[in-house]
Amino acid sequence: MNSTTIVLFQFGGFFMEKSLFFKADDGTEYSVYTIRNKNGLCAKITDLGANLLSLDVPTKDGGTVDVVLGLDKPSDYLGKNKDYLGCVVARVANRIGGAAFTLNGTRYELEKNDGNNNLHSGSHSLIERLYSVEEISGASLRFSYDSPDGDMGLPGRMQFAVTYTLLDDNSLVFDYEAVSDKDTLFNPTTHSYFNLLGHDHGTILDHTLTINSDEMTYANAESIPDGTIRDLNGTPMDFGEAKPIGQDIGADYDLLKFGHGYDHNYILKKDASSMTGRYDTDDLKLSYGGCLCEPSTGRRMEFYTDLPGVQLYTSNFFDGGSIGKGGVHYNKNAAVALETQYYPNAINVPAFPQPVIKSGEKKRTRTVYHFDAF
Ligand code: GLA
Repeated sequence: MNSTTIVLFQFGGFFMEKSLFFKADDGTEYSVYTIRNKNGLCAKITDLGANLLSLDVPTKDGGTVDVVLGLDKPSDYLGKNKDYLGCVVARVANRIGGAAFTLNGTRYELEKNDGNNNLHSGSHSLIERLYSVEEISGASLRFSYDSPDGDMGLPGRMQFAVTYTLLDDNSLVFDYEAVSDKDTLFNPTTHSYFNLLGHDHGTILDHTLTINSDEMTYANAESIPDGTIRDLNGTPMDFGEAKPIGQDIGADYDLLKFGHGYDHNYILKKDASSMTGRYDTDDLKLSYGGCLCEPSTGRRMEFYTDLPGVQLYTSNFFDGGSIGKGGVHYNKNAAVALETQYYPNAINVPAFPQPVIKSGEKKRTRTVYHFDAF
């Protein structure tokens, strides 16, 4: 423990502390919060962007394994996190085609930071902002940010918050909440990358994956959906039954060629059998989204969400350029992101569920990652 460490909570097996993450050139001090449950599941989160830095899952042999990718150098989270490692992406995740949309008759132009399109709210998004932090309980931390009207080109002042909670069953819960003073877009996601063997363990091509989905949004070579829905059955995109991620990733198939691997939005099933009731809140009903499994160890990560889609991204654009924790170079397919969200470009496709929040409305959404058999 260094002199700047403060223990915030220690009771009943739960532990929470705060310490200095780093001091930036402009003098801003960023903190890192550690939360641990009674089983030893331990998350480190920084108030810089509310980014998840590490997630240690307790293993059968009494150790832990850090299953999320992160940068080695704290200050790299300012300006050098090009792959969005551990990021909470808000106010709007994924792409908006042409970097423009119309809402209530007004056209809004956004930054083109991905070819002709807007990706993850542009290059100066909330992933680099200093959040305020509030302890909710021994295993729950709420990070909030007051985003001004016009921030990132978006209408309305938005009070945004993400609460991280560790549950006793070894789940990590993301609760997002927003209120805006004008109608605006709201589509948050978490961009953590998972490798169940550990963040520094080669590729996830042998991990098996199930996604509770029969259909996906077709996206063109710029990864922009136009409203076309594609049946997954029998295609290389199909994860209805568990299969190794690497099995079909190199198949001769248009979508895989466009994405250089999996980088696509799956439409999650919301039928009765998907609605398990697990992790529901008073106002949110979550469905089972799927399961990532590491076959040599049997380790599993299930996810649940109330959101309509999930972007499967198999770190296709990693080039070893991001220096990961411990000095590791993360290469192509090092990990998998399962980004629950509204469909990409939804605001420009009226038939899609709309990621719109009304003025004064309080909107909540929840995604849960559950770890098992470690
Ligand atoms: C999302 C996108 C990918 C990529 C990553 C960030 O997952 O769909 O194409 O841009 O973000 O590197």
